[in-house]
Order: sequence, then structure tokens, then C-alpha cells
Amino acid sequence: MKLSKHILLAVAALAIIVSCKTKDEKIETPAKPNTLRNVYEDAFYIGTAINTFQIEETDSVMAKIVGNEFNSITAENIMKSMMIHPERDSFNYELADKFVALGEKYDMFIHGHTLIWHSQLSPWFQTIEDSLEFANATERHVKDIVTHYKGRINSWDVVNEALNEDGTLRKSVFLDKMGEDYLANAFKWAAEIDPKADLYYNDYNMTNADKRKGAIRLVQNILDKGIKVDGIGMQGHWHLDSPSIEDIEQSILDYASLGVKVAITELDVSVLPNPWDLQGAEISQNFENKEGMNPYKEKLPDSIQVKLANRYKDIFSLFLKHKDKISRVTFWGVSDGQSWLNGFPVRGRTNYPLLFDRELKPKAAYDSIIALKQRFDKQQPVK
Ligand code: G3I
Repeated sequence: MKLSKHILLAVAALAIIVSCKTKDEKIETPAKPNTLRNVYEDAFYIGTAINTFQIEETDSVMAKIVGNEFNSITAENIMKSMMIHPERDSFNYELADKFVALGEKYDMFIHGHTLIWHSQLSPWFQTIEDSLEFANATERHVKDIVTHYKGRINSWDVVNEALNEDGTLRKSVFLDKMGEDYLANAFKWAAEIDPKADLYYNDYNMTNADKRKGAIRLVQNILDKGIKVDGIGMQGHWHLDSPSIEDIEQSILDYASLGVKVAITELDVSVLPNPWDLQGAEISQNFENKEGMNPYKEKLPDSIQVKLANRYKDIFSLFLKHKDKISRVTFWGVSDGQSWLNGFPVRGRTNYPLLFDRELKPKAAYDSIIALKQRFDKQQPVK
């Protein structure tokens, strides 16, 4: 009984305090925490690729980072054809359903990766000899998946990595069986099912001049047929010192000049030696672990930590300069320990390409892009 009397007194006291505020004095709403998604909210979506463990939230610390820091997610692997459509007559949506549910739980922009890709392709595609039968099976693949997620997935990588480095079309079973029209057909099929979803062409090394010309030709050809393409995804698998900011900027401008959105879809910055000047993410290439290729086995030297922070600052300064063209910036993972770059292009290396370290602590690179946006906001004219 005593406790309830105290509670009543406390409630009464609170009521008096609140009523003492003059009627026009606003009760301050608590400021939002300075997380990536909050700080960049008025610029572009900040996303991350997530793996099965992150989709199932098996680690509570990681789950908190994903939910608090990002407002967009991409499935790193589980929506690739091998995973989601493993047999010609059976789809496996279990993990992808959990992925979409997670995005809805955290009020995120949900991105589907990827409908048509020559890699991680379900083997059954290769068993179809007849071209028309192949085209029909591919149409069913695209339409069934987009139907399943209609109204829930906000954008799709409709076609991933269809170009060679010289800008010509990569040889694949899709090109072989359906000719160049496989590209336009994939976008047409997706738009027929979900006209509200943003449809992207996605590729790596999109700052290379020849490949950039090829991507522009590819997308323009589809647009010229009156078929919807909403965006171009520049994957952004970059290095400490390449590609140049100028090349990245020229690419953003050239892609945006098509009248489509530009997304940075798989951003990471490798700090390790780039063997034989390899670029991008052609995962068919892999190299034996040569001496000197893995210099930071134990820890990342402070000097490189600072270089990485400055590189991310320079990259995000450019993104903020062109935030009117950029829809989303997605990191290819949350923390260094999960990065595919620990195994590409050389297996068994220790890389440090992302914003959170192996202990899930934010790195100097994280602090640098938060501080950058706060400075940027201060320089903006008061609305
Ligand atoms: O799930 C199996 C596991 O059961 C098996 O024990 C293990 C060992 O073989 O392999 C596991 O599958 C691996 C999968 O990642 C999940 O970890 C595949 O072998 C491996 O090839 C696959 O690598 C992925 C790669 O795409 C190929 O799909 C990387 O995680 C992923 O980061 C990478 O992402 C691509 C984008 O989709 C497209 N752009 C380039 C980017 C980097 O290559």
C-alpha cells in the first residue's frame, strides 16, 4: 500500500512540473543518436550486405549494429539463384523471407540481389538445351521471385555483371541461349510483376572508361525499347588509392545523365596489396598467397587506419556533393571479419575494408564519415 502512495505522489508531482511549462514552451523531443542511418537520413540510404547469421540475428551485438546503423539491407548470398531457386521446379524462400522480415522490422529499404547472374547460378539452367525453353524457364525464374516479394522488396539488381572489362557483353548461358535481348527481357519481366520496385543494372569496375561506356550502352538500349531501368549500381569494391575520386565522379555524372539513379551497391576499401593490379570483383580469379600479400596479419597499423579513414572521408565527400544523384550507399558487410576480401583475390588474408572491426567496434573510418556529414550539415543554408 505504501508503495502505491509513493507512486501516486510521484505522478502528482510530475503532473505539476509538466503543467508548469508555459503552454507555448515546446517539450524538447530527444535528439536522434548519431548513427549512420540517422546522420545520412537526408542524403541517401546507408545499407549493408548481410549474411545468414545476421539475417537470423544470432549475435545480439551485431544485430544491434545492423538495426541501429543501417536503413537498407542487401542479401549477400541467400537470394542468388543457387540458393533461392535450387531446382528448376522448386524455390526455397525460407532465408529470403527472414531477410525481408528483418528489413521490415527495422523499417529499411530492402534490396534484392540478384535475379540474373552468371555466377552462383543454379546448375539446372545449364541443362536446358532448347533456347525457347531456356527463355521460358528464365522468365519463370524472374517472375516467380519478383511475385513472391511484390510490394515488399523496394529494388532489385535485375542483372548483375553482364559486361567484360572492355564494355562488351560477357559470354554467359543467358547471352548464348537468348541473345542480347535477355537483358531487356529481364527488366521487362520484373517491371510487369512489380512496377513499383526500382530496377537496377549492377556491376563492378564501373569507373573504368571502357566498361562505363559499355554500361551506358547497355542501359540506353533497354531504355530505348521503352523498358524501365531505374538505376545503375556501381559496386564500389575499391582500394586505398584507386580508383581516383575524379574517375568515380565522372562515372556518377555519366550514369546520372541517363536519367537514372546511381547507387553504390557493394562498397568496401581493401587495404591490402592488390596482386598484379587486379581490379573489381571478378571472383573467378584467385591467387596463391604470395609473400608480402598479407602484411597485417595481427593488426592494422595506425597509419593505415588513418589512411582508410581519409579514403572513406574523400569518397563520402564526393557522395555528398552528388547526393541528388545517389539513392543508396551500401557497404558489402558490417565488420572486417565477415568480408569476402579476406579470401579474394588471395585466400587466407586479413583485410580491413569496412567500418567496424573484428570486435564489432566502430573504426576511425566510421568516425570520419559521421564527422564529415555533421560538418556538411553545418555548412548548409538554414532552411
Ligand atoms: O554456404 C556454403 C557453405 O555451406 C560451404 O561450406 C562453403 C565452403 O565452400 O561455401 C559456402 O558458400 C560460399 C558463399 O559465399 C557463402 O559464404 C561460397 O562458396 C562462396 O563462393 C560465396 O562467395 C560469395 C561470392 O559473392 C560468390 O557468390 C561472397 O560471400 C559474396 O560476398 C560475393 O559477393 C559478390 C556479389 O554477390 C556480386 N558482386 C561481387 C561480390 C564479391 O564477389
